[in-house]
Amino acid sequence: ETFKDAFKDKFYIGVAINRRQAMQKNEKEATLIKQQFNSISPENDLKWENIHPAPGIYNFNPADKYVKTGMESDMFIIGHTLVWHSQTPDWVFTDEHENLLTREQLLERMKSHIDAVVTRYKGKIKGWDVINEALNEDGSLRDSKWRNIIGDDYIEKAFEFAHAADPEAELYYNDYNLYKAEKRSGAIKIVNSLKDKGIPIKAVGEQGHYNLDRASLKDIEATIQDFIKAGVIVNFTELDISVLPEANADATADVANSETYKEELNPYTDGLPAEVENRLAQRYGSIFQLFVKYEKHIDRVTFWGLSDADSWLNNWPVRGRTNYPLPFNRDYTVKKEVTKAILDAAK
Ligand code: G3I
Repeated sequence: ETFKDAFKDKFYIGVAINRRQAMQKNEKEATLIKQQFNSISPENDLKWENIHPAPGIYNFNPADKYVKTGMESDMFIIGHTLVWHSQTPDWVFTDEHENLLTREQLLERMKSHIDAVVTRYKGKIKGWDVINEALNEDGSLRDSKWRNIIGDDYIEKAFEFAHAADPEAELYYNDYNLYKAEKRSGAIKIVNSLKDKGIPIKAVGEQGHYNLDRASLKDIEATIQDFIKAGVIVNFTELDISVLPEANADATADVANSETYKEELNPYTDGLPAEVENRLAQRYGSIFQLFVKYEKHIDRVTFWGLSDADSWLNNWPVRGRTNYPLPFNRDYTVKKEVTKAILDAAK
């Protein structure tokens, strides 16, 4: 039984794919993606720095391949992401003399980017992460060049431009750590303010970068319930569960080359111990049981990466770790217990 079949009456099961996978370079990967998933997200290729690297220069080729891959298998294709503080080149915010743009100029630039990208994939990309990660952990709006130059309404403007470019596309606000009540309250404010103005927002994406302990079931359930109350769907858009110790970026940079690195911060270079895999299975199982309980309010659950080999968590907060956050192993075999726990949740 496959993931997409097991959950087909409940929600889409998606996967974020990288450029190699979008290009279908490796047959094993291409087959697995088709068999197991009915939605895809582009891990990097639609981010501003990749698709629009220089003024007037669009690099559509990888994104075209990504969309083609999804269309071939009739998948629900996601666009990620239109406006983000990260992975956006500096030139976006300045003119040819390197002066900061005015509000009007930046709005114009945002609009032409959104028009170009959304229009190109109109009717094919079915849902857009319009705004990604606009919030601080305390729920206030993050300082970014977007916000500093345009003002707080850069968020609604981006939604308006996206809606105008493809009125049929679903529009989302996407962020991490929304399981924390404080941060979630900020997302609810964004939802309310868009709804007050009649701007369509279909769903909030809780990214779902979890680990074996962080994000209790209670907190995840409260997240779902609060977004239901706010009148939006809640999708889990970047699900993965790290099995490695949490580490702070500064500390890990110091120890990355030290003796203690392997023992303390990268303990499973020789394989994932069965005991840890069992904990991972239980964790995935209980999270999916929760998703199933609220399936009427969840349209999609997307894993952030196909196999452990692809996961960004091998390189965060320091490069060269060996993490095991996904249902598929580095050799594309399944983690048996994990997969069973997820599939059992569908029954
Ligand atoms: O492709 C280049 C390669 O040519 C170059 O040699 C290499 C050297 O650094 O970099 C490669 O690009 C990297 C890219 O991933 C592809 O591997 C970038 O440096 C690296 O910054 C980028 O990281 C991505 C990260 O977002 C930043 O955009 C991760 O793959 C991606 O998984 C991660 O995804 C984000 C979501 O978009 C938003 N939510 C959080 C999530 C995890 O951080």
